[in-house]
Amino acid sequence: MKDVKGKVAFITGGASGMGLGMARSFAAAGMKVMIGDIEVEPAEKAVDELKSKGLDVACVQVDVTSMESMQAAADKTIETFGKVNVLSNNAGIAVGGKSENCSMRNWNWVVDVNLWGVVHGLQAFVPLILSQDESGHVISTASMAGMVGLRGAGPYNATKFAVAGMMETFAADHRKRNIGASVLCPGIVATNIGHSARNRGEEYGGAVEPNAKDRTADMLAQGLHPDIVGDLVLEAVQEDQFYIFTDPSLKHLIETRCERISAAYDWAASCKSLAGAKQAGGLPG
Ligand SMILES: NC(=O)c1ccc[n+]([C@@H]2O[C@H](COP(=O)([O-])OP(=O)(O)OC[C@H]3O[C@@H](n4cnc5c(N)ncnc54)[C@H](O)[C@@H]3O)[C@@H](O)[C@H]2O)c1
Repeated sequence: MKDVKGKVAFITGGASGMGLGMARSFAAAGMKVMIGDIEVEPAEKAVDELKSKGLDVACVQVDVTSMESMQAAADKTIETFGKVNVLSNNAGIAVGGKSENCSMRNWNWVVDVNLWGVVHGLQAFVPLILSQDESGHVISTASMAGMVGLRGAGPYNATKFAVAGMMETFAADHRKRNIGASVLCPGIVATNIGHSARNRGEEYGGAVEPNAKDRTADMLAQGLHPDIVGDLVLEAVQEDQFYIFTDPSLKHLIETRCERISAAYDWAASCKSLAGAKQAGGLPG
């Protein structure tokens, strides 16, 4: 989407971190932006900040775990701006722990926000984007944890791999249509994700106040500024770039994974069990 001026973007998790960075960059480029977030106060603060610069923004409370809430946010976007061109499925939370001992309530929380949240975004917004005679673009925020397995992050990894896979398929499904696709795979970015549990609902174990001694938050503070990610995502939308990586120094992690997979193919090709076996020789799709 070369010309973003006058286009309308809806961003989940737009009140903080990278979502806010995207809201700032998109609005400064002349887009109308609807910030969707579960946190009302920071969302309103973001709107005040951007409006004071003469930018066209609004906000709506949305809980991405709920299809109903996402549908209401889509309705509000159309009511406010008359159309929607760009969807950023960005809201997400971090849960640490191994798959086998992460509590089931945290498992449900991370899947509901990070995976179902993206599904709800696609279901509520893509039909609207496709129904218009204008170009569109969908960005979903995965992570480097959607590209490589990270120790002690099984549940988070599972959701982010799912998002990356879903977006690869989305891009293939819509290759011939006027809708671009991107998957954002950040490295470490200085956001509030270390304090994700501030938004954990009762059904998932309840909210936890940010802890000043939190080491994850300290590490995140060393990361890339989220406003730079906002600019990067805008550039990717304008240039129709699918994979968006924020830290080029992490490329070796992907290369190592590809090498291991490639070696596993060589192993399979030399295996006794597969020797001479009949194969389909392709995949559906
Ligand atoms: N910060 C990093 O280092 C990093 C790295 C890789 C991927 N990510 C991903 O980036 C995305 C953005 O996170 P961030 O780092 O900017 O964190 P952040 O906490 O600063 O922002 C996340 C936003 O999502 C909102 N949110 C949380 N639960 C929600 C819900 N149920 N419904 C609607 N909004 C909800 C929060 O209120 C917050 O405004 C997430 O998907 C995260 O997994 C972050």
